[in-house]
Amino acid sequence: MADQAFVTLATNDNYARGAMVLGKSLHNHKTAKKLVALIGPQVSGPCQAVLKMIFDEVRLVNVLDSGDTAHLAMIKRPDLGITFTKLHCWALTHYSKCVFMDADTLVVSNIDELFDREELSAAPDPGWPDCFNSGVFVFCPSLETYGKLLQYCTEHGSFDGGDQGVLNGYFNTWATADISKHLPFIYNLSSIAIYTYLPAFKQYGSNAKVVHFLGQTKPWSYTFDPKERKIQGNMQEASSHPTFLLEWWTLYSSTVVPMLHEQYGDQPFNSGCVEMKTDYAAQEALSSEERKKKWEQGQADYMGMDSFENIQKKLDAFLK
Ligand code: UDP
Ligand code: GLC
Ligand code: MN
Repeated sequence: MADQAFVTLATNDNYARGAMVLGKSLHNHKTAKKLVALIGPQVSGPCQAVLKMIFDEVRLVNVLDSGDTAHLAMIKRPDLGITFTKLHCWALTHYSKCVFMDADTLVVSNIDELFDREELSAAPDPGWPDCFNSGVFVFCPSLETYGKLLQYCTEHGSFDGGDQGVLNGYFNTWATADISKHLPFIYNLSSIAIYTYLPAFKQYGSNAKVVHFLGQTKPWSYTFDPKERKIQGNMQEASSHPTFLLEWWTLYSSTVVPMLHEQYGDQPFNSGCVEMKTDYAAQEALSSEERKKKWEQGQADYMGMDSFENIQKKLDAFLK
């Protein structure tokens, strides 16, 4: 249906990379719905261009910030005041029904059936299951609701400083009124479950439809070696099951990075993949081996690589 869409949000280039992977994963699992990305003005030109290739609509919104440092400190996420910006999704009134998804989610199976659900449907938050997690939810855009939500923010604020506190305050009968609005946990499977209830994860984890890399460490906080298919970084902090993290990186490095390269052209950018660096080092090692041979044969490249200037630079660097 043309008037139904998946919606995500990215206020900076890191979350934009997450949004790109999410969009790609929705396409890979053959969604029939439209894709919308809400972005803030901080998202760079090249990232905006890539988002436009993946999403049907990329809409610039003004960034809303709760500025509620006291509550945000309690969830140890001073950066999440900005998630108030999510509330703009209710203004997308050219759609009758939408599913919002955080930019740190990954779809591992088709989830178009979520559009059979009503507002506000969401999965329980693993930390407090009588609250819903606002990383995945079904909603109906409406200027009336939008206005009421913004009014709710000014009157009551948010108990966690972010959108989840506002939304649970506003849709406060979610836990008790209608069980059909409780999405199964497999629609918003967060890493926490793996640590807190491992046997359940082993039993049901393979049914996951959406993985949520909830928490401070995101997939893009790591680096990846596409050749070795290895993730590097603090794996103890791994924000999700390593298999899902690998799935994120495989999709990102194989489909998103080439698009980013095309947009950035000669401009340097950090893709998070170590591929370039490794190749560079290998190349240098090889050529220095060859150079050594030539040098020994009395064929130094005095005008180029082995010029006095270059040798001096090497010595200076060495002495430092
Ligand atoms: N977000 C954003 N910029 C930020 C922080 C958050 O665009 O600086 C958006 C993004 O869509 C993100 C969502 O808000 O997925 C919620 O934040 P996050 O996923 O970091 O919260 P968590 O799920 O870890 O609690
Ligand atoms: C939660 C949700 C996230 C939300 C944040 C702030 O942990 O996963 O989507 O933005 O809380 O309320
Ligand atoms: Mn999230």
